[in-house]
Amino acid sequence: MLLTGSGRLAPAGISPWAIQVRDGRIAWIGAPVDAPDDEVRVDLGSALMTPGLVDSHTHPVFAGDRSDEAAARLEGAPYTGGGILRTVEATRAADDTTLEALCEARLRAALAAGTTTVECKSGYGLSLDGELRQLRVIRRVAGRLPVRVVATFLGAHAVPDGVTASQHAAVVADEMIPTVAAEGLAEFVDVFADAGFYDLAATERIGRAAIAAGLDLRLHAEQLALTGAAELGVRLGAASVDHLEQLDTGGVSAIAASDTVATLLPAPAIVLRDRLPPARALLDAGATVALASDANAGTYSGFGTMPAIIGLGATLLGMSAAESLRAATEGGASALQRPTLGRLGVGADADLVAWDAEHEGAFALRLGALRPWRVWISGEEIGP
Ligand code: NIG
Ligand code: FE
Repeated sequence: MLLTGSGRLAPAGISPWAIQVRDGRIAWIGAPVDAPDDEVRVDLGSALMTPGLVDSHTHPVFAGDRSDEAAARLEGAPYTGGGILRTVEATRAADDTTLEALCEARLRAALAAGTTTVECKSGYGLSLDGELRQLRVIRRVAGRLPVRVVATFLGAHAVPDGVTASQHAAVVADEMIPTVAAEGLAEFVDVFADAGFYDLAATERIGRAAIAAGLDLRLHAEQLALTGAAELGVRLGAASVDHLEQLDTGGVSAIAASDTVATLLPAPAIVLRDRLPPARALLDAGATVALASDANAGTYSGFGTMPAIIGLGATLLGMSAAESLRAATEGGASALQRPTLGRLGVGADADLVAWDAEHEGAFALRLGALRPWRVWISGEEIGP
């Protein structure tokens, strides 16, 4: 198949353009005049073409509603682990069919908004059975949808009632991680490494257990307080450290000097009226930056909003529109260690979106309203 267009291929900014797809991958890319012959030709006119969006941080397996808690916070109530425990209760009370339908609807919304790869965390189970149930829901829903799903085990999210963080961390490290790894249910382990949740010692214990079990690490770090969790993530070789609202200049330098990706989540920062992460400082220091939604039960519940997240990167976080788009494609793919996703080059997976727009500036200009026109995953057109 040969796709051609008179418009713009972003974020590289090539125009006009042609892409040949063979066996689900990009076989050739360049100017239409130089394009190889192909029996199947599709002309996309002046549409903006981008890689499929990569949302590298979501929590889609939950039941219940916490909009009352969001309202209370906006009137001054603090954010504590109690909210997550409320979601754990509501999720436990939902049957498998209901929970799967909720998760599936969230991933369908993501796909309809141009997300072709989505990371999905457990974390609203907390017990071994509850967490395995979450990961199995992710696996079953992934099997029904064309979107690419990357599963992450987040057994150390809130601290369950009746135990200390360090006691729960020991159970996560010694019992849960070996089971999750043995069943092949997740590729990554995540920890909510923050004040009031898991401290550096608990996080390191879980991180080392993950590595020993052959799983890769990603962390929720420096969201609520500056604790040093991002630098711990760098030391442990984490694929990504996420949030970073409170990150200091030492943390910026440590991330920039490493292969760990800085994943920024502007939506929960706004909903919590928090500081914004230092996007400009990270980019200027040479860090790899990803933008993701963090869609979850309690701090930002927007599934299918990656176009808005790109717009927020380019407006609130001080990134250019091209940097923001790159962070939501190539950056997210780097955070998930998927070098063939999120980029347009020979050998890359042919996950592509044609947008109802002419320039990536539309993500900012039409903040939250930009929609895909056509979407391909592995060269197969799937909608939107
Ligand atoms: O990424 N920060 C930790 N976890 C989620 C929120 C989870 C919840 O409140 O339900 C987040 O913001
Ligand atoms: Fe999160």
